[in-house]
Amino acid sequence: MKKLFVYFSSTGNGEFLASLFLEKGYETIKVETLKPIGKMNFFKMIKLGGTTISKKGMEIKDINLQIKEDDFVVIGSPIWNDRLSSPIKAFLNKFELNKNTTKFVLYSAGGEGKHAFKQLEKMGFKNTPLLIKSVNKNPDLARNAIKEF
Ligand SMILES: Cc1cc2nc3c(=O)[nH]c(=O)nc-3n(C[C@H](O)[C@H](O)[C@H](O)COP(=O)(O)O)c2cc1C
Repeated sequence: MKKLFVYFSSTGNGEFLASLFLEKGYETIKVETLKPIGKMNFFKMIKLGGTTISKKGMEIKDINLQIKEDDFVVIGSPIWNDRLSSPIKAFLNKFELNKNTTKFVLYSAGGEGKHAFKQLEKMGFKNTPLLIKSVNKNPDLARNAIKEF
């Protein structure tokens, strides 16, 4: 049985969480966009936010990932436009995950990510996601929040 943390990060918060999961013995896999995002700025944020509600979404690089029945998977996604980030949405479209055991850690700049919760519920995931606000500003809070993993 493997423990996996599959995540996306463009400004480092998810990266910090990945380092915590690594400490806990998880294998960590970063989802990468086909076109690099580069340095974040206001206009890019608006454009990327728009991809969360566009049909096309965003394309991600191929990932060589075999998930076995008894593997435990945690998915980490930033909140974009109150929703799941487009790279993680693309990942979820590509990989069939166990709806009962897969857990989600969402990270935001302070928002509640209500749409993201609804998206996951609609996809059939049974576990209530964990939402952590401003991870990099509150590293101790983040460390404490993922204790249960
Ligand atoms: C395109 C985009 C949209 C975002 N939308 C929201 C939002 O709706 N609500 C919020 O609280 N934070 C929002 N954020 C902030 C991120 O969710 C937050 O900074 C998160 O920790 C980023 O994770 P990362 O550093 O691993 O990429 C947005 C960030 C980006 C880049």
